[in-house]
Amino acid sequence: MSYVITGNPGVGKHTISKKISKLLQMEIIDINKIAQDFELFEKNGETNDVDVVKLGEIIRKKFSRPVLFVGHLAPYVLSSDKIKKVIVLRKNPYDLISIYIERGYSKEKIRENLGGEALGIILHDAISQFGPEKTVQIDVSSHSVLQTIKKVMDALNGEIKTEEVDWLTTISEKNDLKEFFAY
Ligand SMILES: Nc1ncnc2c1ncn2[C@@H]1O[C@H](COP(=O)(O)OP(=O)(O)O)[C@@H](O)[C@H]1O
Ligand SMILES: [Mg+2]
Repeated sequence: MSYVITGNPGVGKHTISKKISKLLQMEIIDINKIAQDFELFEKNGETNDVDVVKLGEIIRKKFSRPVLFVGHLAPYVLSSDKIKKVIVLRKNPYDLISIYIERGYSKEKIRENLGGEALGIILHDAISQFGPEKTVQIDVSSHSVLQTIKKVMDALNGEIKTEEVDWLTTISEKNDLKEFFAY
């Protein structure tokens, strides 16, 4: 059975996964890397759209052995049957801003990604794809890498349950809806 680490860009998936893969002694499969290798990214201005149907087929054929899948596209390209647990990393959107600026994302791309995190879209889509039993949400805001690794390992072993996250209340209390959503 395979494991999945997903969540919005910048939440720490790749940083955490390297350590988790060593601890589990499982190979990391970076979903974005597969999409790049098979040239499935369609350049549409600055947003990269991916043919998720093709990517899903390639992954199904190539990786029937147990691996650690990593990537924000996980809910759209993996099927639930061979997946044991799915960890959705969440990070306070206010903390994501500097990470996105450092990455050189445009204003539009920043708002799109912050909005996605604020609404919890990947969590929602992970639950509908993999089911609520397998999907565990972890809030990594103000956590060190070591603390996050411990939580993720505990979650993979079924020792901690999903955590509550509600960024939307904080954002609306600060009157910042316009920073996060185009309306
Ligand atoms: N637990 C953590 N605590 C503090 N900073 C972290 C943590 N995990 C990752 N980071 C930092 O956050 C940024 C994004 O991490 P990264 O692993 O690239 O995220 P992702 O793969 O989800 O896009 C990096 O600068 C990384 O060093
Ligand atoms: Mg990454």
